[in-house]
Amino acid sequence: MRLGLIGYGNIAGTLLRLIAETPEIRLEALTVLGLPGKTDELGKDLEASHGGLGCSFAAVSSAEELLAAKPDFVVECAGHQAVVSHVPTILKAGVDVVLVSIGAFAHRELEAELRAAAEEGGARIVLPAGAVGGIDLLAALRPAGLTSVTYQGCKPPAAWAGTPAETAVDLDGLKEATVFFTGTARDAAAQYPKNANVAATIALAGLGFDDTKVELIADPAASGNTHEFTAVSGVARTSIRIENLPSPGNIKTSVTTVYSVLRELRNRVAPVAI
Ligand SMILES: NC(=O)c1ccc[n+]([C@@H]2O[C@H](COP(=O)([O-])OP(=O)(O)OC[C@H]3O[C@@H](n4cnc5c(N)ncnc54)[C@H](O)[C@@H]3O)[C@@H](O)[C@H]2O)c1
Repeated sequence: MRLGLIGYGNIAGTLLRLIAETPEIRLEALTVLGLPGKTDELGKDLEASHGGLGCSFAAVSSAEELLAAKPDFVVECAGHQAVVSHVPTILKAGVDVVLVSIGAFAHRELEAELRAAAEEGGARIVLPAGAVGGIDLLAALRPAGLTSVTYQGCKPPAAWAGTPAETAVDLDGLKEATVFFTGTARDAAAQYPKNANVAATIALAGLGFDDTKVELIADPAASGNTHEFTAVSGVARTSIRIENLPSPGNIKTSVTTVYSVLRELRNRVAPVAI
């Protein structure tokens, strides 16, 4: 596989370590699109940290350079701005993209641009389940007539630092689990963009951004990130609860996210996809 990555942070680094332990995935070439002015440093780091992958390495800073490396598949794990700057160009060139920064879809114009670019290039945008599970069932039940989908996201107070939660509640003084946001998935994504991905994933799989209800909670007793959703449909009532450990490199990122991206890559190459 000729793999392209956009971003080389916590998710990308962990993903490359997991790929090295996954016999089904053999990398022939790895090209990483990083921030301008940092490609020399990035290239050296790739060789030093992931030389065991046994593939060729290149670090680039534009979508055009990434495409010149002829990737079979690109994984975006950089953030909203990188989605805006690079992903439409890659899709228009006909290359599939696993989009990890799913919260980007909460912006109507960007969602329309991404869908149009994929259609123009005949490429697919693959949205991994990320930090949450049960997305297969939720998406499968959509034609059965979902009547309500409610998501609750709970993290330790420190994980909400630097967000509007700081003004909604006294994060440092909390003694018990406290709901500080109730609203739609679209509002949650707009107000908490760095924590928007799970709400966005559930919204896209189920009832959409404007009809998915979201509650965000800070809990001083929480040791990790808990994602829970309940979906009611004509054929089933579904409740899913996942207690994730935060990833060592980024307290806001649940470690299961990286495994879900690895699954997308494995399903591209393994004889059986599941
Ligand atoms: N779908 C999910 O459930 C889920 C879960 C966790 C995180 N995420 C998203 O995944 C993304 C990456 O998470 P992370 O923990 O690896 O973050 P991180 O901050 O550790 O790494 C992001 C990397 O991308 C680079 N970057 C930023 N802007 C860039 C640009 N324009 N071009 C190239 N590189 C750029 C940064 O320099 C950094 O190295 C974030 O957008 C995060 O919101 C999604």
